[in-house]
Amino acid sequence: MTNRSTFRIYEDKVRQNLERIADVASTADVTIILALKAFAYWPAFPIFAEYLTGATASSLNEAKLIKNHFGKPPHVYAPVYRPHEFAEIAEMSGHLTFNTLTELERHRETWERLGTNVGLRVNPEYSPVETDLYNPADPHGRLGETLPNLPAKPPKGLKGIHVHTLCESTAENTATLIERVKAQFGHYLEQVEWLNLGGGHLMTKDGYDTDLLIKSLQDFRQRYPHLEVILEPGSAHLWGTGTLESNVLDIVDNYGYRTLMLDVSFTCHMPDTLEMPYRPDIRGASKEAKPEFPYAYRLGGMSCLAGDYLAEYYFPQPVRPGDTILFEDMAHYTTVKTTMFNGVPHPDICIIDAHGEVTHRRSFTYEDYEGRMG
Ligand SMILES: Cc1ncc(COP(=O)(O)O)c(C=O)c1O
Repeated sequence: MTNRSTFRIYEDKVRQNLERIADVASTADVTIILALKAFAYWPAFPIFAEYLTGATASSLNEAKLIKNHFGKPPHVYAPVYRPHEFAEIAEMSGHLTFNTLTELERHRETWERLGTNVGLRVNPEYSPVETDLYNPADPHGRLGETLPNLPAKPPKGLKGIHVHTLCESTAENTATLIERVKAQFGHYLEQVEWLNLGGGHLMTKDGYDTDLLIKSLQDFRQRYPHLEVILEPGSAHLWGTGTLESNVLDIVDNYGYRTLMLDVSFTCHMPDTLEMPYRPDIRGASKEAKPEFPYAYRLGGMSCLAGDYLAEYYFPQPVRPGDTILFEDMAHYTTVKTTMFNGVPHPDICIIDAHGEVTHRRSFTYEDYEGRMG
């Protein structure tokens, strides 16, 4: 009898990250909020709300989740707003960012009437991200206005500028981004009230140069003292805070290629392992062949998708059905992205407190699968 596959979020680790983030925010005198696109397991929001002044949404659903469970007016940026939803979003938003000047004008009557604090996303055409799927700064891309599109003066009523071009990036990258924004959009910065520097600031990763981040932000604040500076990382809050436990159900052996058949799926539960792609750490296993890790296995997901597997990992002893495989660092961009493709069962999600007690658990049933379709 195996345990159910489970995403575990460790409260003490989340608090460690939040303390570090709150320290950066107060020392640099900036606002740092949680991007829901990375993590939307709302039963954990009260922990975040102890440290953060808010959260950011990219859709009406995320905005409502923040309003209902974070208890703060959401910051909102969406690549496009559905006309019939716009007034509802604008009414609940603390800050609302448009992706284009045309969207800003399209909805002007509504946001002016509601008194919404609005911004514009711009594309500074700088990003250290090499994977196209995660690079928002493509000059021909769809995320934000490039410099040549902007009129010499900000449109009437514009209160803020939003950029987002980092992903799991360093403090050096943030410093470069800030310089780039100053060089390209300095004339706008003089005339608005806030600048949102987006996400991707991985300040909770070991080795991250927090001092440099703080210094860059302080220098910027000194240059533009009238501006509120906002950072909206997702991953940084959840970095290293959770695991996904799975069970080995069977082993397939074809021509000596052995695949562990797990009760989880890469495409359904850890899609970035296929999309980025990246190879997650597995507790007690090695990603490279080593003398102490002589047993090689591919890891197979339980969907029918041919590519739902990871290339070989190496283990110190033979693996058997009934053994556990523990994926590290599975709190961010997992539970928000999971699907029930193929009817694949969804792992439980739970929060574990500092004493090892489960304080909240969500299990999924056939009714969850059926309920999505009718
Ligand atoms: C507009 C925006 N803000 C914030 C984030 C959060 O980024 P991260 O989780 O890499 O910190 C993203 C991620 O894609 C984003 O698109």
